[in-house]
Amino acid sequence: MMGRALRAARAVRFAVRCPSPVPATLGPLRRWQQPCGPRTAGQPAGYANTPRLESLAASPQPPEEVPAPVGNKVETEGGVVEWGGDHVTIRRANNPLESAGHVVTNLGLRDSCPCSLCVDPDSGQKNFSTTDLPDVPPLDHAELLPDGALQVVWADDVPSGGAPHTSVYPAAEVAAWEAKPGWQRGTVNRNSPQKLPWDRPAYEALLAEGRCRVSYQDWMNDDAAFWAAFADLWQTGLIRVTDVPLEEDAVERVATRIAPLQHTFYGWTWDVKSKPQAENVAYTSQFLGLHQDLMYYKPVPGLQLLHCLANSTEGGESLFSHGIRAAYEVKLTNPADWEMLKWVQTSFHYQKGEHHYFERSAIVKTDRRDHPGASFWAPPFQAMFPQGLSSDKMLGWKRAAHAFQTIAESEHNMVEMKLSPGECVIFDNRQVLHGRRQFAATTGDRWLKGAYISNQNFRAAASRLADYCESAGVELYPLHRRKVAEDMVWTSLVKRTPGLERLPPKESTTPKKATTPKKATTPKKATTPKKATTPKQSNVSKKSDKSNKQKPPAKPEIKA
Ligand SMILES: [Fe+2]
Ligand SMILES: [Zn+2]
Repeated sequence: MMGRALRAARAVRFAVRCPSPVPATLGPLRRWQQPCGPRTAGQPAGYANTPRLESLAASPQPPEEVPAPVGNKVETEGGVVEWGGDHVTIRRANNPLESAGHVVTNLGLRDSCPCSLCVDPDSGQKNFSTTDLPDVPPLDHAELLPDGALQVVWADDVPSGGAPHTSVYPAAEVAAWEAKPGWQRGTVNRNSPQKLPWDRPAYEALLAEGRCRVSYQDWMNDDAAFWAAFADLWQTGLIRVTDVPLEEDAVERVATRIAPLQHTFYGWTWDVKSKPQAENVAYTSQFLGLHQDLMYYKPVPGLQLLHCLANSTEGGESLFSHGIRAAYEVKLTNPADWEMLKWVQTSFHYQKGEHHYFERSAIVKTDRRDHPGASFWAPPFQAMFPQGLSSDKMLGWKRAAHAFQTIAESEHNMVEMKLSPGECVIFDNRQVLHGRRQFAATTGDRWLKGAYISNQNFRAAASRLADYCESAGVELYPLHRRKVAEDMVWTSLVKRTPGLERLPPKESTTPKKATTPKKATTPKKATTPKKATTPKQSNVSKKSDKSNKQKPPAKPEIKA
């Protein structure tokens, strides 16, 4: 596969060779000590279980300072590789990033060899420990192959019992190293669709398109319909499955189409049930303000399912509002409140019987680019503030919390729906707040069967969604473009508030890794798979006027 001229250009020291005989003192070869060699024509360019890669359209980072090359240099049509000391410098040919090169350490490179000798192709597990390696694994030769893959020949390779060892890193991976600092093989949901922190009009528009609803039959039996609905769930954090059998275990069947249930001290599934003359406060019929469940518990559940088995009472409408939406609105309109939302911790607790939980979290958790990723809101389960908390912090928290709550509960942002028996709502408990209007317990029955799925499993399912879309040829919207979500919220805010001026980005005080400026990228249209279903009549209705608005009481219910 290498031309004669290119071969001639190789460093003198390089010779593709099979491993030297293993010294007798090392004993019989272990599996990863078996001979191996460089990739040859006919062999696949990748390797078993090749992971999905970050979109290479990711915003390029300014190049890090590249150490001066020491020692060896090999130039091929794939690019230039130099090595010496403890690192390797890679300059890919036709590199769209036009960088000075990318530096990797010998240790990191050798440790991440993806070959079938280093990583068991059946189990996917490493066959050696990082601690087995020398600080600077000796490198005999490195070059970029014509397709852009990096091939490295290690000398005196410890995992190979002292024999040489050849590693080949696929071209797409080598490109991703440079395009996405911090990139790692095997992470989940890195190519998932863009999140859509909706307001009510935006959510109703999606419903009008036939999105965010799927029948039980399609959810369970039709892969295309299931993944389309899952994409809606990932993007909006709120979908409904309709025509679910009125059976107590149906919610588990709906849930496990995504992932196994998350067990909590409430059990695998649990009841939100009311009956006339309820004997237990747990079955309260009072208004339940917007909140998120189990803020006092770790890990906070990712998805929550509520399957309606009965809802004949007057009232009892379900309320939803996007916590990330509210967080963005605070960020864009009041930087001081935004800082408080991120910084001052709220304590949550639950202590009843043998269950005792206590956790702290800021109201909004952000990523290193200062974009909100999760909210933590459950007023009935707040614990006391720490003794001695300064007035500044306490009042700062209160003002910011009030701003967040006011936005979340606004007419413009809150979606209301009355669940019918057979409907199962699924929502992202870390992003979407939920509540319930008061209902008249004596007028009928209200029974919801609930279940949780962990956030880790939700994200893992998003990886499977990405795999499905890739295999179906559907372009996905990279998750890391959260800037798009912020712009979406801003555009909507400006329409509603003429004259609003966007503040210059504030230097975040988040003590996290400093972010580097990015080149602007043009957002692409999200192309998640669409269901071919006929848009159904939305039963999401506008909230009634403000005079009917009920304020959340300070009383807990059994589930929160
Ligand atoms: Fe709840
Ligand atoms: Zn290897």
